[in-house]
Amino acid sequence: MNAQTQRIRETLARDGTLAPARDRVLGQIVFCEGCCCGRTDNGFPPVPRDWIKHRWKVEKLNRSVQLTFSGCLGPCDLANVVCVILPEEMQWFGGLQETWQYDLLLDWAIASRDAGALIELPVELNRHRFERFAVSKSCEKSDCMRSPAPSRRFQDVFP
Ligand code: FES
Repeated sequence: MNAQTQRIRETLARDGTLAPARDRVLGQIVFCEGCCCGRTDNGFPPVPRDWIKHRWKVEKLNRSVQLTFSGCLGPCDLANVVCVILPEEMQWFGGLQETWQYDLLLDWAIASRDAGALIELPVELNRHRFERFAVSKSCEKSDCMRSPAPSRRFQDVFP
């Protein structure tokens, strides 16, 4: 077991609160690069991964908006898919096919960094938004979103 795993285990054992060691970020953006998104060999539009990573690094955005490339996020029928994780919700975008759409997301991350807070996502991408999950927002404040108390604690499952 490494030191990090040991630290987490000890924190959980004393019912402490987990917190990342690095500064907390404002949000996170996840670009899908799974079995469909970005697979130009299968006829899907490219995901400009190298350009995005380069710009994120040059602008030092990762301290504000965490950049992630992932395997399949699920809704392959809407490739290319991007998920923006905000403190209160996740925003999903699909059908991204043009470089300017990625430009907008980069500009949003830069503006959020400069503001020290997440600003509104680009309205130009509104047509690409979609609801990912079956439970609608109208259900959020009702009982349907309440989950039962966990029956097992982490340390019970991973002793
Ligand atoms: S490959 Fe992107 S959603 Fe499945």
